Amino acid sequence: MKILAIDTSCDETSVAITEGRKVLSNVIYSQVLLHKQWGGVVPSIAKRAHQERIDWVIGEACRKYSRISENSLGSELAKSRAQTSTSLMNFTDSVMSQIDYIAVTYGPGLAIALEVGINKAKELAKKYNKKLIAVGHMEGHIYSAFGQNSQGKPEREMKFPYLCLLVSGGHTELVLLKDHITYEILGETLDDAAGEALDKAAKLLGLGYPGGPVIDRLAEEVENKDFYHFTRPMLKHSDFNFSFSGLKTAFYYSVRQMDERSRNINIRQLASSYQEAVFDHILRKTEKAIQKTGVSRLVLGGGVSANKYLRKRLRNLTKKYKGEVIFPHYKYLCTDNAAMIGIAAHHHVLKGDFVKDLDKLDRIPRLKLS
Ligand code: KG4
Ligand code: ZN
Repeated sequence: MKILAIDTSCDETSVAITEGRKVLSNVIYSQVLLHKQWGGVVPSIAKRAHQERIDWVIGEACRKYSRISENSLGSELAKSRAQTSTSLMNFTDSVMSQIDYIAVTYGPGLAIALEVGINKAKELAKKYNKKLIAVGHMEGHIYSAFGQNSQGKPEREMKFPYLCLLVSGGHTELVLLKDHITYEILGETLDDAAGEALDKAAKLLGLGYPGGPVIDRLAEEVENKDFYHFTRPMLKHSDFNFSFSGLKTAFYYSVRQMDERSRNINIRQLASSYQEAVFDHILRKTEKAIQKTGVSRLVLGGGVSANKYLRKRLRNLTKKYKGEVIFPHYKYLCTDNAAMIGIAAHHHVLKGDFVKDLDKLDRIPRLKLS
């Protein structure tokens, strides 16, 4: 079963072709350079960029797919591409004849950005007479941990239940994955998301956008040590919710007290201490959730899952409970991508979960897992 999936929930225009958990092609057009100068994602710029690029990204995803496609149609596709001047259209038509379903992210995300992908998915579903599957962006981040290359590597059996820690630029949540497409939210952030908290601190330090990867690198340069001991959030709360705004304010005041020179000298120490406080909070809540649920098989997803140090800490934590942590094997599966949407869509198909009326499918910017 082959699925063409689209994700335009934030600042990446992405299209993938998947088969089960195998990613046959995945193309990401990142808008990061467009948003960098504003220090964060500007929805109207994101919408325009998605509109301008989506057809190109679909064409590229089809082209990449045909390169790895082993069946005979693959070479026919290459021929038709080489022969005609309007090859891109014919070529996409040929690939679409091999696709069984179209999948699209319908939330959560930026409303006007989501809309671009949804409209394109409806257009393709109508034109090529395919069924459409509506997928949640956060379920995509869960399934990304099980993504495989076109050869089916790595082989990972799925054994339910899983405790999922989702840490992205827009969300931070602990979710119980009881079975395929069956979720229970245990806790979520009450204010900023973990990635957003890292991005805001990085902006304050003049490190640009997105800040998570820069803080990751600077902290590593001082061995991820804690120098400033920022107060950990919500120490008196026993629930599984998160909060990063108090920590961000404490960081803001510490940085503001420093002159530019001492800030620059201490930038690694500041970055590392802040990251440590963010991760301590995440780890504490995750450990509580392991204790409460008895589930120590952890799935880590979302952009912050790219952080090597966070992975290491979670590996140690799950080991303590005789469990394991599973995170996306390929780096592109950590941050936003359409492959994860295709993988999750596969399981929706197995449950017969299709969009019944194409015209009624709408974006849900605050969609929650259920
Ligand atoms: O999942 P994602 O691509 O987009 C959303 O759905 O929000 O996550 C983006 C977030 C950004 O906040 C970015 O700073 C963070 O992921 N991020 C990282 C790393 N790579 C990306 N945070 C920490 N360490 C990293 N290596
Ligand atoms: Zn995301």
